[in-house]
Amino acid sequence: MVSIGVLGYGVVGSGVVDLLQKNGDKLRQKLGVDLNVFKILVKNLDKHKGRSPLLTNKAEDVIHEKVDIVIEVMGGIDPAYAYVKKALVMKKHVITANKDLVAAHGEELMALARENQVCFAYEASVGGGIPIIRPMTDSLAANDISQIAAILNGTTNYILTKMYKENMDYKAALQEAQRLGFAESNPESDVMGYDAARKLSILSTLAYDQKIDWKEIDVEGITHIDAQDIKYAKKLGCVIKLLAISKKKGDGIFAAVRPVMVSEKGPFGQIDNEFNGIMFQGDAIGEMMFIGKGAGKLPTASAVVGDIVHIVQNHKGKYGKVIVERKQPCHKWENPFQ
Ligand code: NAP
Ligand code: HSE
Repeated sequence: MVSIGVLGYGVVGSGVVDLLQKNGDKLRQKLGVDLNVFKILVKNLDKHKGRSPLLTNKAEDVIHEKVDIVIEVMGGIDPAYAYVKKALVMKKHVITANKDLVAAHGEELMALARENQVCFAYEASVGGGIPIIRPMTDSLAANDISQIAAILNGTTNYILTKMYKENMDYKAALQEAQRLGFAESNPESDVMGYDAARKLSILSTLAYDQKIDWKEIDVEGITHIDAQDIKYAKKLGCVIKLLAISKKKGDGIFAAVRPVMVSEKGPFGQIDNEFNGIMFQGDAIGEMMFIGKGAGKLPTASAVVGDIVHIVQNHKGKYGKVIVERKQPCHKWENPFQ
């Protein structure tokens, strides 16, 4: 059995717990072990009355000797940073969806994880449900990447889509994004472009093998975009998207986040609502694009649970004998086109 402690039971934390329950049998069959949630940390127990017997407001109940993997989905730096460090020092694998934490302290936490021979995984910190961190670290590692262009924030893409397609006003669209669980607890980091900048710094640091500090990225958000801008864009056959771009320039890296007019029919013009799109230019692979849901409960939980699977598969011996039981083979193939 793998014992999991969860720090946070908001949009993402509850998504992780629900997904582990929903697809528990499938995961057990795949991994040959049970994935068991041990305890869940919240700030305000009263708010969650009757929701789960596993809830606690004491971090030490979650970062516990009996736990194998700690999932940090609280957000912010303080106390998430201290809790993650404590878990790594206690030799717990750590998974986080927290881009603020990864952008600010990622290198230090990865080094601490290496020192303690555990994993620090952060797939959900960029692109929500889109698998992008592992491809960047493994599958695409052979490439010299020269450029990244991306829509990296679901909230702003949702707002811009609603303004463009439904003439919704900015404030109403932001409220809807908050209701749907896409926005940060302080949505300023979404609409001012800081969230996209942090994600761009994480991706660029991996892509160019050099630390790109998000604070050095030139950032402009979407707060000043109004109905008039949308009207002009439409007239030109364009849509406005918050693009995050980084590219190699000489010995350095240029990186910026800005609202940009793009062709309505182009690859970014068709990415709507909370979807994200990430395009790379690699010297071996050429141009490549990843598209998917960049925010929300289950898409983000999908990335977090994917990290659990990755960790368990890479530490099979530790968690008991892994027997993958395949379903009975199908003897009669039916024509799926009939
Ligand atoms: P959220 O809904 O605000 O949930 C945060 C949870 O953490 C709540 O359960 C809260 O407890 C708990 N918490 C916060 N501070 C705490 C503290 N000091 N002590 C104990 N518990 C604390 O946030 P979220 O949307 O799930 O996001 C969580 C993380 O995932 C963030 O880093 C976010 O950037 C990232 N993320 C979010 C999405 C998304 O679509 N929402 C997608 C990708 C990544 P209470 O419930 O008691 O307040
Ligand atoms: N607030 C973030 C967004 C959540 O809207 O993209 C996903 O990281």
